[in-house]
Amino acid sequence: MNISIIGTGYVGLVSGACFAKLGNNVICVDIDENKIEKINKGISPIYEEGLDEILSRNKDKIKATADYKFAIENSDITFICVGTPSKSDLSLDLSYIKKAAEEVGKQVQKKHGWQLIVVKSTVLPGTTKDIILPILEKYSRKKAGAGFGLAMNPEFLKEGIAVKDFLEPDRIVIGSYDKKSSNILKELYKNLSRPIIETTLSTAEMIKYASNAFLATKISFINEIGNMCKKLGIDTYEVADGIGLDKRIGRAFLDSGIGWGGSCFPKDLDALISWYKKENEKPEIIQSTVTINEQQPLRLIKLLKKHIPQINGKTIGILGLAFKPNTDDARESRAIPIVKQLLIEKANVKAYDPKAMNHFKKLFPDIIYCNNSKDVLDADAVIIATAWDEFKKLDYKGKIVIDGRRLLEAKKTAKTYEGVCW
Ligand code: UGA
Repeated sequence: MNISIIGTGYVGLVSGACFAKLGNNVICVDIDENKIEKINKGISPIYEEGLDEILSRNKDKIKATADYKFAIENSDITFICVGTPSKSDLSLDLSYIKKAAEEVGKQVQKKHGWQLIVVKSTVLPGTTKDIILPILEKYSRKKAGAGFGLAMNPEFLKEGIAVKDFLEPDRIVIGSYDKKSSNILKELYKNLSRPIIETTLSTAEMIKYASNAFLATKISFINEIGNMCKKLGIDTYEVADGIGLDKRIGRAFLDSGIGWGGSCFPKDLDALISWYKKENEKPEIIQSTVTINEQQPLRLIKLLKKHIPQINGKTIGILGLAFKPNTDDARESRAIPIVKQLLIEKANVKAYDPKAMNHFKKLFPDIIYCNNSKDVLDADAVIIATAWDEFKKLDYKGKIVIDGRRLLEAKKTAKTYEGVCW
């Protein structure tokens, strides 16, 4: 099939690359000239395992451009994958997706054939039907379901293993306005041979939010259990293994630590809470999930103070700045509240991350960034904030190590080792 993808963030680019790998022709649209040039050379503008290889091997099937006209004219399906960031009041900023829908609509108006438009961006339930559909109808001067098809197809891609998640999904969710749209998407995903759920536009949107909210809740839940375990001298990971074997619970996303970050869970939960409050309702579970997550990283500082009561003027090393290993993304990383608090308490901070230092520097330009993980150890105590493999192999040289990600290997060489929930 001929596909266009609007927005080449990690969702758009991974989807585009994987659609090409599956044999489709793909046109990626972005406003960033630098990204366009890289994609056309078969180079990934973002760090994502396996993406460079797919882009370079499928150069003939993937074109990047800033030209909406070219993209819509030469494709039958358009996926909208632009960002939906948080606004200062934590509601969603829909300006990019509205603009994308407007541009797509204008080109669909000029096009003779039928176009399938698919929203992949994460948007609150009701958005595709109540906001995107009217924009598309207005600018295309065509009717949804007749002049063009409309669907909502959420993504469940984890950064770092997004390519694998795309090619081997647990399920594919297709929300559609019209049956023809749903049938075309089923055909597009046919070769993945995975369960497909066909539903309405709004249900598909809610499945995405409920999925992220549930996963974040699972983590906050095990962190609360973990905080109890810490007091009792129990290892939460054994508890997680013990409950995880119950099929109704499952072991995934029960790794306790300093909580969840990234570009998805924090934004999605905030958007859901903000929307529900506007409905004059009080979110209970999801609000607690967020509250636990805000407090969890600060527990590391408490543990640190058990060993160094006055951290004022002391040097604290931070190992790991990315929100999780195998990504350069530091958005909402749990290292952020930790560094903030250390600076408030006037500690000197030196840090290292194999991939995320450039992004972190934008937030904290004035802390010391080390060239390698060993240099961080020249500190009064060390905090492990991201579970990078290379930190397992370090000789902690008799240091005080406060671990937020359960790198038990550190215990062997540390003088004092404390885990947040174990
Ligand atoms: C998450 C979801 O897992 C994807 O399914 C979803 O598609 C994506 O958001 C999205 O909405 O786009 P991602 O943000 O890449 O993916 O990261 P995760 O791997 O889910 O990790 C999120 C955070 O939870 C990380 O900070 C990680 O360290 C933490 N985490 C994860 C734990 O603390 N414990 C765990 O057991 C698992």
